[in-house]
Amino acid sequence: MTARQRLDQLWSRGRDYLGTDLAIMGGAMTWVSDRNLVAAISNAGGFGVIASGAMPPDLLRAEIQATQALTEKPFGVNLITLHPQLDQLIQVCLEEKVGHIVLAGGLPPGGAIKAARDGGAKVMCFAPALVIARKLVRSGADAIVIEGSEAGGHIGPVSTSVLAQEILPEIRDVPVFVAGGIGRGEAILSYLEMGAAGVQLGTRFVCATECRAHPKFKQAFIRGSAREAIASVALDSRFPVIPVRALQNEGTKRFMEKQREVIARFDAGELDQKQAQLEIEHYWAGALRRAVIDGDVENGSLMAGQSVGMVTREQPVADILADLLAQAEAALQARGQAA
Ligand SMILES: Cc1cc2nc3c(=O)[nH]c(=O)nc-3n(C[C@H](O)[C@H](O)[C@H](O)COP(=O)(O)O)c2cc1C
Repeated sequence: MTARQRLDQLWSRGRDYLGTDLAIMGGAMTWVSDRNLVAAISNAGGFGVIASGAMPPDLLRAEIQATQALTEKPFGVNLITLHPQLDQLIQVCLEEKVGHIVLAGGLPPGGAIKAARDGGAKVMCFAPALVIARKLVRSGADAIVIEGSEAGGHIGPVSTSVLAQEILPEIRDVPVFVAGGIGRGEAILSYLEMGAAGVQLGTRFVCATECRAHPKFKQAFIRGSAREAIASVALDSRFPVIPVRALQNEGTKRFMEKQREVIARFDAGELDQKQAQLEIEHYWAGALRRAVIDGDVENGSLMAGQSVGMVTREQPVADILADLLAQAEAALQARGQAA
């Protein structure tokens, strides 16, 4: 058996679920995963996912149609469950015949999974723990993504390697995709061997030639090392902060100062709890756009996973996927499992 045949056996469930050659998803990245990157990933045999972020329904419809004009291959749409127009966004996906809807950013509200499935879409959900994975499957999710804390962007507290050990042996009814910290094909192979149906990578695709990100944003990724991609922390447990993994810059330093200043004003009675919390949360408003689109890499948010250290140059998506495949195949050959 060739290495590719063995790999195809290992990820056959993921390929069938996604309808692709490779069970590699390009994780949705707000402002980054637009029509160009998504179509490039799908055209190269992977599975692109549009990041809808805070888009209103009409913009999402336009993005889906523009992506369909660039690829006939399957792709998905990532919706943030907290979006106030979630129901309308699901309807847009269904009307535009999107095959896979990925519900991200917290537990989906009751009815969302059912509405998407009744409309004919497949529904993938993020599970940060085994009990939640089980609950989501019971609610109708037909695939699960587990994303560890190595990932870029908003993260949970548990690492990919531990989540994989806790969840992969237990959730067998639906395909499970592993995300967070994957930068090379050897890691893809090992998660498949542990029972994953496929994988999802975000950081590794940011420096794709087809990616719209500003050259300065890409340059920061090419220069950045794993230890510089750090999770944000709350200074005071009274004011929780959802951890976001990003490359350190002026913006992340000033975020600590901002928290200190707001907490001092709260303690002095100048702000109430709600005002203080809002002021802390508001600090990052628009910051990802400033970095990705405007190239303000000093003050904007450079969301990046620890795998950023393995991003060393700009490359076409097809080359990134070919590298990952070659690494997985070489690992199989080295184990004597394939010719
Ligand atoms: C810049 C950036 C933006 C992201 N935005 C989103 C998002 O809008 N929705 C989402 O579900 N995940 C988002 N993610 C997470 C990715 O989809 C993916 O799961 C993650 O990057 C995988 O880990 P990796 O970065 O280690 O490959 C984002 C990640 C990055 C780096």
